[in-house]
Amino acid sequence: MVIVTSLGNSEKMARSIARRLKAKYVVCDVSAFPDGDRYMRFAKNVRGSNVIIVQSFQPNPQKSLLDVVFAAEGIKQLGGRRVTVVAPYLAYMRQDKMFNPGEVISSRVMAKLLNNSVDSIVTIDPHLHRYKSMSDIFKIKAMNLCSNPLIGAYVKRNIKNAVVIGPDSESYQWAEEVAEVAGVQCTVFEKTRYSSRKVSVKMMKPIDMKGKNVVIVDDIISTGHTIAEAAKKAKSLGARSVTAITVHGLFAGDALKLMKKAGVSKVVSCNTIAHKTNGIDVTPLLTSWLKKN
Ligand code: R5P
Repeated sequence: MVIVTSLGNSEKMARSIARRLKAKYVVCDVSAFPDGDRYMRFAKNVRGSNVIIVQSFQPNPQKSLLDVVFAAEGIKQLGGRRVTVVAPYLAYMRQDKMFNPGEVISSRVMAKLLNNSVDSIVTIDPHLHRYKSMSDIFKIKAMNLCSNPLIGAYVKRNIKNAVVIGPDSESYQWAEEVAEVAGVQCTVFEKTRYSSRKVSVKMMKPIDMKGKNVVIVDDIISTGHTIAEAAKKAKSLGARSVTAITVHGLFAGDALKLMKKAGVSKVVSCNTIAHKTNGIDVTPLLTSWLKKN
């Protein structure tokens, strides 16, 4: 029997996955003792079942990660069989090397914890930059699915006279395919990051943005500075409007305000992290992988 559960961040998606898989949804009560120790209890017997834990690693990445480890270990204690983690957003992937001496490569720590506790993991567009594949850090079955076709279809359906921009060289993997699916032109900027809140962008391959509805596509919006700088550049080149589309909307601090001030008229995110900007549903993508695996 297959059971689907969630741990606080992705209940709506977990219930939807359970419905689509015709599986049972089991509530897991996640709370804390007065001193802060974690408490977890599954409302139904999980013995002999394959359990799918649906948990985005935002908000609160460290709690999210540890809750997955506790739940997975708990399922094994209770006699559950295989544990699959559906992490629509997988945190820690950006710290994929030691950028400064003494830094902890946290992506490896995250993967080690999951390698020890779960049997497989599936995610959407993890930040694979210096790692070429999930198997660089995961020993378990680890799959990454890509939201580009869904984002491309959204652009095609909703934004006329569009051009697509990737705000930095890493974003070509999203921007180019999205533009292809939408059937529009694309360019990728070059970004220099001076700190987590200071970036600048340059256009390397010029395209005409005059009068165009510019769509900036990136895997992650965190502080919003990358998108804000790209939006200002697009506006200065005559863009009619600027829409920002992201797979994972983290929106740290005043990110939304900052982007609006820079000329972004609309922000759309995939529902890998529950947020009011969610406009693209990745549930079918995850469900079809789960059905086959
Ligand atoms: C960076 O490598 C990512 O692809 C995003 O461009 C970055 O995380 C965005 O960060 P922020 O919104 O803070 O500029």
